[in-house]
Amino acid sequence: MHGMSSRFAASVGVATMLIQSKRGISGHFAEIGTFAGRYFIALSHALTGDERAIGYDTFSWPSPKVKTKLEENIVKYGVTDRSIIVAADSMKLAANDILSLAPGKKIRFFHVDGEHTPEHLSNDLKLATQVLDERGVICLDDMLHAGYPTLPIIVHEFLKREPSLRVFCIIDREDIAAQTKYMICREPMFDFYIEELIKAFPNNIWPMGADFRYEKKALVLSPEPKLPNFDDLL
Ligand SMILES: C[S@@+](CC[C@H](N)C(=O)[O-])C[C@H]1O[C@@H](n2cnc3c(N)ncnc32)[C@H](O)[C@@H]1O
Repeated sequence: MHGMSSRFAASVGVATMLIQSKRGISGHFAEIGTFAGRYFIALSHALTGDERAIGYDTFSWPSPKVKTKLEENIVKYGVTDRSIIVAADSMKLAANDILSLAPGKKIRFFHVDGEHTPEHLSNDLKLATQVLDERGVICLDDMLHAGYPTLPIIVHEFLKREPSLRVFCIIDREDIAAQTKYMICREPMFDFYIEELIKAFPNNIWPMGADFRYEKKALVLSPEPKLPNFDDLL
């Protein structure tokens, strides 16, 4: 399927939603930047009951044909009943626009993958935080990307203003076109998500972890968790 998110990142996202379901955390999945549905459809498969997948995109890049492609993919991969697709600019959305589409639940997994400018990321992060279930997860695409070096600075500034949010996991890149994601939760859920993802991905843990200056390091999951080998110096 056309798209940018990696297969590995999609499998970590799906695993996180299954972990939530097992723990009784329910809610919708939302995405800004649905494109042709590569990540959207994968995560939609992890929804249960009356949970919905809510996708936003301007559908103007590379041409409006991308909306038709998304609609075809939603049918092809069997998630028609649970999908709600809206053509919209995330800069013009308010929290209630999202929550009123499928009332009764907040968002348990929010993927932010729209326009990669500092202004859009600040806006989209704020929106995601406003609609997030207390035990939910925000996933940010294209962090640490060579093409967007200022985006993590925006995230750090945002987290200073929202100290109860923490990055609990970095999902390492698969390719320059399938980049690193940050996963963020509220502080009381930090240990829970790390422990559950360690159990789910025992062969993908990069042993040094990520130092966000918390008392404990965040988890780093990598498709190939390598460290340089210095055995000859021992
Ligand atoms: C990198 S692509 C998303 C890739 C997709 N999530 C995937 O996994 O394949 C970014 C998308 O964000 C959309 N976008 C850009 N600016 C936007 C905005 N202001 N509001 C909503 N979507 C936007 C673009 O149209 C594009 O489809």
